Amino acid sequence: MRKIVIAIDGFSGCGKSSTAKQVAKKLGYTYIDSGAMYRATTLHFLNRFTVLTNPKDVDRALKSLEISFHKNEETGLQETYLNGLNVERKIRTMQVSEKVSEVSKIKEVRRELVSQQQRLGKHKGVVMDGRDIGTVVFPSAELKVFMTADLKIRAERRQQELLEKGEMVELEKIIHNLSERDRIDSSRAESPLKKAEDAVEIDTSLLDFEDQVCEITHLAQQKI
Ligand code: C5P
Repeated sequence: MRKIVIAIDGFSGCGKSSTAKQVAKKLGYTYIDSGAMYRATTLHFLNRFTVLTNPKDVDRALKSLEISFHKNEETGLQETYLNGLNVERKIRTMQVSEKVSEVSKIKEVRRELVSQQQRLGKHKGVVMDGRDIGTVVFPSAELKVFMTADLKIRAERRQQELLEKGEMVELEKIIHNLSERDRIDSSRAESPLKKAEDAVEIDTSLLDFEDQVCEITHLAQQKI
């Protein structure tokens, strides 16, 4: 059976990662969370007090950056590692969420992460989610999906996720963070968030999670 690349892009907090993970599981594909790579890079920069406006400082920080993904044997879930340390929880905190779009705007950061993502997907059989997967990382992906959802619904879902991880954050703060990230991500000069012309748009506001997964899996099966 031929293997394809599935690119899932969209706004912050639309449920791209959980959907992509489940689609990958159903198809026996590898799931790659490109957002986790930008988040791990942001954590690395925060740890090193990298000055984002200083290209030499950014360059030095990128040279000492090593991101990898490993499966947690207990949960079976893939987790993010930064220079050998498990940072899966740390990269999901509000501290990182508040900085990540600023870091993701930097040209050198994008160049480095895009090339790592292209390497990870070169043998196909991957589902990758992000903001520029269908437009820049894999412009010839066989299936491109663009996910959207109502801002308040996205914020409520994100608040629940944070709560489950023990972080209580006000809804207003989350709404502000999601809309700010969308604004910065959509307006940046380097590979801005936008729907690829050939992407299928799915509004998840009122969709059941399982229906979302089924719809994308069905679209994928038509291409395989
Ligand atoms: O997907 P997630 O919400 O974890 O992504 C965090 C941030 O990483 C986004 O708001 C965006 O700034 C950046 N990002 C990006 N390009 C990608 C994936 C994520 O710029 N392909």
